[in-house]
Amino acid sequence: MPERIFIGVAWPYANGPLHMGHIAGCYLAADIFARYHRMKGNDVLMVSGSDAHGTPITIRADQEGVEPDVILERYHSQFLDTWDRLGISFDLFTTTHTDNHQRVVQDIFRRLQEQGYIYADTMLLAHCAGCTRFLPDRYVEGICPHCRNERARGDQCDNCGHTLDPIELVEPRCNICGQTPDFRDSEHFFLRLSAFEQDLLNWIGDKDYWRPNVANSTRGFLQGGLKDRAITRDLTWGVPLPIDGYDEKRIYVWFEAVIGYLSAAVEWAENNGTPSAWEDFWKDEDTRAYYFIGKDNIPFHSIIWPAMIMGYGGLNLPYDVPANEFLSLESRKFSTSQNWAVWVPDYLDRYDPDPLRYLLSINMPESGDTDFSWSEFVRRNNDELVATYGNLVNRVLRFTYRNFDGQVPVDAAPPEDAEIALLASARQAMADVDDALAHTRFRAGISRAFALAQETNRYLDTRAPWQSIKTDRADAARALGTAIQVLNCLKVVLAPYLPFTSQKLHEFLGFDGEVSSEPWDFDNLVGQIRPGGTLRNPSALYAKLDTAVAEQEAEQLGVPA
Ligand code: MF3
Ligand code: ZN
Repeated sequence: MPERIFIGVAWPYANGPLHMGHIAGCYLAADIFARYHRMKGNDVLMVSGSDAHGTPITIRADQEGVEPDVILERYHSQFLDTWDRLGISFDLFTTTHTDNHQRVVQDIFRRLQEQGYIYADTMLLAHCAGCTRFLPDRYVEGICPHCRNERARGDQCDNCGHTLDPIELVEPRCNICGQTPDFRDSEHFFLRLSAFEQDLLNWIGDKDYWRPNVANSTRGFLQGGLKDRAITRDLTWGVPLPIDGYDEKRIYVWFEAVIGYLSAAVEWAENNGTPSAWEDFWKDEDTRAYYFIGKDNIPFHSIIWPAMIMGYGGLNLPYDVPANEFLSLESRKFSTSQNWAVWVPDYLDRYDPDPLRYLLSINMPESGDTDFSWSEFVRRNNDELVATYGNLVNRVLRFTYRNFDGQVPVDAAPPEDAEIALLASARQAMADVDDALAHTRFRAGISRAFALAQETNRYLDTRAPWQSIKTDRADAARALGTAIQVLNCLKVVLAPYLPFTSQKLHEFLGFDGEVSSEPWDFDNLVGQIRPGGTLRNPSALYAKLDTAVAEQEAEQLGVPA
């Protein structure tokens, strides 16, 4: 029975290009997971989109002196291009600036209001006398009351991850002019989060399979007690309230962005000509919903969005929120404002997608922070991707192609111990990678696949078909034929991680069509390699990089030598 898997991925603010930290944070993991489930024959819907509203966009628009939609369109189309070139296979990547999204958001707002989960009240808002305006949360900075970080923002502290209200900041200051804001009454709408405390506690009670960082921080937030939160703002860019008389207010960006997971599913169904198909993913309780996000977004996905879903009723709650931790760059935090970043479009102008996918998979910040450095990129590219895997593929296929007329060698003799052992190991590896991916353990999965590649290299070193071919052609044929069977398995287990080069390998092995349509089934894959099968003339899957590349890139970034 195919399973149904909904995959929501954090919506990036469309206010600048994506850097590697974003990819390592959630996009790559989500894509590997989606590709894996599709290959397993499961029904997958993976959606996200540009987070179009909120102050990140308006700040950027103000800086450039353009309207916010100019910024949105520029980066939205750049994102689409990046997904395409990096192979991030969304079923839909939309934006929160669509009529459909507005309709779905307003429907949820109304329903929650009818149920008493949204109510109007006055709140104290930061007002800057210098700027003569109410300040959006992000325009207020100060000291975090939880961890004393001096650069906490009014919406969140990036140091300890707590979500904040500007009024909680110690020594608040206006981000624009530096003055100390005063707090004035303003009428707003609130989400009655406090009403969901017990239900949320019950709900996470059985989430023992969640990653420890996600489960612990979620419990931490709940133990602190949930406060109702304002979900409207004094702004004119964003989703309007579905109530007359509030033209100067918009729905708070975080409240409406998470609703994108639902509205995108509706849009996807509509685009497909099956307008009710979104319900399979949102209403069938057997569907499992996964949310791939960076750790700074945890409470929005493990508390606030689930509370909204509970209040609305009839929709699936998250099954898992496999948040990643952070990637740093040359041991420093990525910073867009300080231009400390490797931008993904720039990377893709200079290198292939799969080497980056490899590095960020093997080094994914899955259970702790990890670091990207150019020297490690070059080292792993050369020592692992090229030397272990690329070289295995290359030597087996080139040698076979040349010495056996471009055909899978014929071997009539029964396999010997070495062949039996290697094939047993390949069967086990396929099961192990399967298990790792099913449990969102991406590093373990790719390490296991590479261990099989390494074992196959050792097998070939021992069997040395390049020698035996001179004296015992059948023996060489047996070794190469077995190695080719293993390659046929490797192309499948590596396809979610390395889709571009797996496709190439699939073609070198003589097959047509998409590698992603191949079965995750050892016996089937081994059985496809038949004596006399036609191979294609192979070329190298990966290119060795000069170590000078690492120096140049690091230098360009400004890393001290
Ligand atoms: N735009 C947010 C960020 O970059 C993420 C939003 S995720 C969503 O941090 F689900 F709320 F959209
Ligand atoms: Zn803090």
